[in-house]
Amino acid sequence: MLVLGIETSCDETAVALYHAEQGLVGHITYTQAAHSDFGGVVPELASREHLKKLMPLVKELLHQTSIDKKEIDGIAFTQGPGLAGALLVGAMTARTLAYALQCPAVGVHHLEGHLLAPFLEPKKPSYPFIALLVSGGHTELVSVFDQGKYVPLGETLDDAAGEAFDKTAKLLGLPYPGGAMLAKLAERGDQKRFIFPKPMTDRPGLDFSFSGLKTFALRTLEKFGDDAQTKADIAAAFEKAVVDTLMIKCVRAVKQTGLKQLVVAGGVSANRALRNGLSLLAEKHQINVFFPRHEFCTDNAAMIAYAGSLRLKRGEQLSLGFDVRPRWPLNELVAKTMRL
Ligand code: KG4
Ligand code: ZN
Repeated sequence: MLVLGIETSCDETAVALYHAEQGLVGHITYTQAAHSDFGGVVPELASREHLKKLMPLVKELLHQTSIDKKEIDGIAFTQGPGLAGALLVGAMTARTLAYALQCPAVGVHHLEGHLLAPFLEPKKPSYPFIALLVSGGHTELVSVFDQGKYVPLGETLDDAAGEAFDKTAKLLGLPYPGGAMLAKLAERGDQKRFIFPKPMTDRPGLDFSFSGLKTFALRTLEKFGDDAQTKADIAAAFEKAVVDTLMIKCVRAVKQTGLKQLVVAGGVSANRALRNGLSLLAEKHQINVFFPRHEFCTDNAAMIAYAGSLRLKRGEQLSLGFDVRPRWPLNELVAKTMRL
């Protein structure tokens, strides 16, 4: 079964072809540059960019992989959560293509895509496992018993980890989205010069809170000046606080659930300090940790095509009337899937 995946939930326009038996055939991700002048994603611009880019990317992918559109057996698209207008472009395109090609279409939960992304790698986890989802919009710890069987363990009460990276990066004068650039700056910093708090690690539980860290960064910046070295030192201390906090909560989740496998996914899972830290932690606590490859940490359509192919194989499909779900908690997906 050959599945075309479409991802348009935010500012990446992405397409992929995944073969249920042979694996990933090809993928393209276009990161919209149109938002860089605005310090954040502009929803209307995102929709327009998706409209402009999506079909040319589908054509380009078919050309690159020498696949005829008639060979496509099913279409998977991100149904939510995300920006309503952006999601609608992907959903409409997917539904129209499915109608034209007379094949089924299925809507995929964006976070399910992220947490199943490590299955695209040669070293795959097996169920059950713990997933740490760390992206620009979400930070959650979840027990995963099977596709669609997710038990939430903890989540952020305010900013997501990626959002905290981006907001702190902005304070440091970096362009949006600054997460990866902040991480680069942190490499030149002294992570011991400033000691940032590790939010909510001094009390039991698996919830997170990252919004205080940007305020701490702002106060530090105001107090110590904003010369290049101070900025790098703040970046290093901020990154250390986020990484340490995530690691402490992962160890707690392992102890609480008794599960010995940890999947880390979402944009922030591309962070080198987090990957190194969690790999060391895994050795120490004898757990296996799984990350997607770098390009599948951030938004992509390969993860959507993969998650969709599993659902299509089980016979799921949407009718011609369909909807997008800009707000779609992962545990609502649980209920729906458990009933299947
Ligand atoms: O998963 P993703 O592409 O989009 C959402 O679904 O939100 O995640 C994007 C987030 C952004 O906040 C970005 O700054 C962050 O992931 N990010 C990073 C790194 N690469 C991307 N944060 C820290 N270190 C990185 N290397
Ligand atoms: Zn994402």
